Amino acid sequence: MTPSPFSTVIRTASHDQHTEAENSTFMSDLLGGRLGVDAYARYTEQLWFVYRALEDAAQSLAGDPVAGPFVRAELLRVAELERDLDHLLGAGWQQRSAPLPATAAYAERVAEVARTWPAGYVAHHYTRYLGDLSGGQVIRGIAEKTWGFERKGDGVRFYVFEGIGNPAAFKREYRELLDALAVDDLEKQRVVDECRNAFALNSAVFADLGAAYPLSA
Ligand code: HEM
Repeated sequence: MTPSPFSTVIRTASHDQHTEAENSTFMSDLLGGRLGVDAYARYTEQLWFVYRALEDAAQSLAGDPVAGPFVRAELLRVAELERDLDHLLGAGWQQRSAPLPATAAYAERVAEVARTWPAGYVAHHYTRYLGDLSGGQVIRGIAEKTWGFERKGDGVRFYVFEGIGNPAAFKREYRELLDALAVDDLEKQRVVDECRNAFALNSAVFADLGAAYPLSA
């Protein structure tokens, strides 16, 4: 039997955790329109810490044989997050922002794999950017409607990939890169484990956010 392509393996392996993250209390409340724009702003602020860790490393990994092919300028999100946060939190937000404990742990793990394990970095890259290109588009639509942001404008620029004209084609190519990941089977298994860890780290951020923004009964 031909083995499944790695893109299928990693997707299948994280499927249950994806459902869990999607259905977390914080995400359900946020996307169900039950939380204020302050919760959305705090969530976006947490993403800024995570993407800074992902993208601070991007340049040094660009020439790496394993992680390098995944590093693409059109994915970079920090500039978009900063524009959104200028709008959501007002000037000077950098001085007022702090990562929640789970966010700090997540960003630290990303920074660690970026320094020490390029294939582990790919696990985190996949978990965030392929998600943003997929479900991120659902989130953008709901955010625009719920909090009245201009379509694809300030507040939701994080979800808008100006440099990617055809997301479906981009995702197809991205999966081809995953299928060609230049590591052996044992390391591929470790990448799958790290992807599961990446989902767990995201869920932990949702748990911290959920505690910070409980629904007033
Ligand atoms: C409420 C929140 C979310 C919604 C509505 C959502 C929705 C979706 C949808 C519709 C897809 C496309 C599935 C397909 O191509 O058949 C997708 C894919 C994906 N999502 Fe999410 N998602 C959410 C949260 C997350 C989170 C928190 C993560 C991880 C940080 C994530 C990571 C991914 C990844 C990696 C994929 C690509 C799977 C693949 O094709 O390999 N998603 N999501």
